Amino acid sequence: MVLLAAFRFLAACCLMLLCGTSWASSNATTLPLVMWHGMGDSCCNPLSMGSIKKMVENEVPGIYVLSLMIGKSVLQDTENGFFMDVNEQVSFACDLLAKDPKLKEGFNAMGFSQGSQFLRAVAQRCPDPPMRNLISVGGQHQGVYGLPRCPGESSHICDWIRKELNSGAYTAAIQKHLVQAQYWHDPLNDDLYKKYSLFLADINQERAINETYRKNLMSLNKFVLVKFLQDSVVDPVESEWFGFYKPGQAEELEALQDSALYKEDRLGLAALDSAGKLVFLASDGDHLQFTKEWFIENLLPFIR
Ligand SMILES: *[C@@H]1O[C@H](CO)[C@@H](O)[C@H](O)[C@H]1NC(C)=O
Ligand SMILES: *[C@@H]1O[C@H](CO)[C@@H](O)[C@H](O)[C@H]1NC(C)=O
Repeated sequence: MVLLAAFRFLAACCLMLLCGTSWASSNATTLPLVMWHGMGDSCCNPLSMGSIKKMVENEVPGIYVLSLMIGKSVLQDTENGFFMDVNEQVSFACDLLAKDPKLKEGFNAMGFSQGSQFLRAVAQRCPDPPMRNLISVGGQHQGVYGLPRCPGESSHICDWIRKELNSGAYTAAIQKHLVQAQYWHDPLNDDLYKKYSLFLADINQERAINETYRKNLMSLNKFVLVKFLQDSVVDPVESEWFGFYKPGQAEELEALQDSALYKEDRLGLAALDSAGKLVFLASDGDHLQFTKEWFIENLLPFIR
């Protein structure tokens, strides 16, 4: 049922990508593209990652596109998006990238939804091979506080996940085994979040500043953040631009530029911003819904 719901959701998202015209241009020096799919999806779903891979290959002839499969099969890959410790997923991905001879000279990366923050962790933790541009498509860089519509509205798994998160997102057992708990960001319990979030609080330098993370992130050529203006899946949507609720309440939002993370520049984002390397894009539409034309006009320039 999970897969079916996810499939339906993705089918709706991706139908728009399949129509439209194609124009091509080629460049011998184009870097490979590495993609990381979102929750409920897999590396190779022909209606989502598969169709995007194909589109990119058509638009940029000769490009090597690697859509990450976390696990040994498409099914495992999908399940791991719900249940595999994110830090282990990131290590798994780093391993795949390091072993791939085609990526030796570097690559561009494009994450979809939660795959975006996972690829950011790859950039921060695994500088070799080097990531040039990181494109976050609807990622949740400050996490989520709510799952209003996790893929598939009637999906039982979403109800189950909500129940787990509400019963104690920061308990060791739930942190370890539920992916979404690892980027659950409860602004009413900021202390718990900072102390116990295994993944997000770490990569966002909430407990301490790891200079390596800062240095590695700052070596990106461009960090592109795409926000979906009518997103009904990510709560709060501001997280897609690295914003979040002000601590202590869950109503008033704070843009990245007003946050301590930025002002203290704990992650190098202010430095990237003043160097013109932080790019904020907005797309009309719901979560991950964009047209092929929009993709070509707005995202393709970063991967050519
Ligand atoms: C690569 O791109 C540059 C700039 O667009 C262009 O001048 C050059 O001809 C391209 N190389 C190939 C092999 O297409
Ligand atoms: C900082 O991050 C690097 C890369 O993941 C890691 O090897 C190192 O142990 C971290 N340092 C601390 C103090 O956590």
